Amino acid sequence: MIIALGSDHAGLPLKQVLLATLEAGGHTVLDSGTFGEASVDYPDFAHAVAAKVVAGEARFGVLVCGTGIGMALAANRHPELRAVVLHNSTEARLTRAHNDANIACFGSRMVGVEVALDALAAFLATPYEGGRHDRRLQKLSPEKVFLA
Ligand code: RB5
Repeated sequence: MIIALGSDHAGLPLKQVLLATLEAGGHTVLDSGTFGEASVDYPDFAHAVAAKVVAGEARFGVLVCGTGIGMALAANRHPELRAVVLHNSTEARLTRAHNDANIACFGSRMVGVEVALDALAAFLATPYEGGRHDRRLQKLSPEKVFLA
């Protein structure tokens, strides 16, 4: 699987672990940075990863910042994307199954490395269930909601 990866300075240490684990698992990782400890702006990296997923260059995106929240906010500005902040493998499994999430965001100041690795493994392994969830995903776009 091809996975786009990015972080800001706060997320860099966790990003490095995720990168090594993904590559050890046989995935191809497109790393958009950041590559150093200097303070940077998380939206720059969120949009770089988002662009790769939107273009079909990567199947999923993985983003890491201090909370995961800023990354998710930025990635979700792309209408094609569903970015989620993950704190455990249950969230990861259910958001793939029900929300067809395609960007996993982690807060390096919020979750431990093992928890993040378990969540990422569940995220990548879980298929979208489709069915009734298709209609709900359509309705994520406000213009697709018609109230009686
Ligand atoms: C950086 O200090 C921090 O604001 C950033 O990593 C992230 O948590 C923003 O949402």
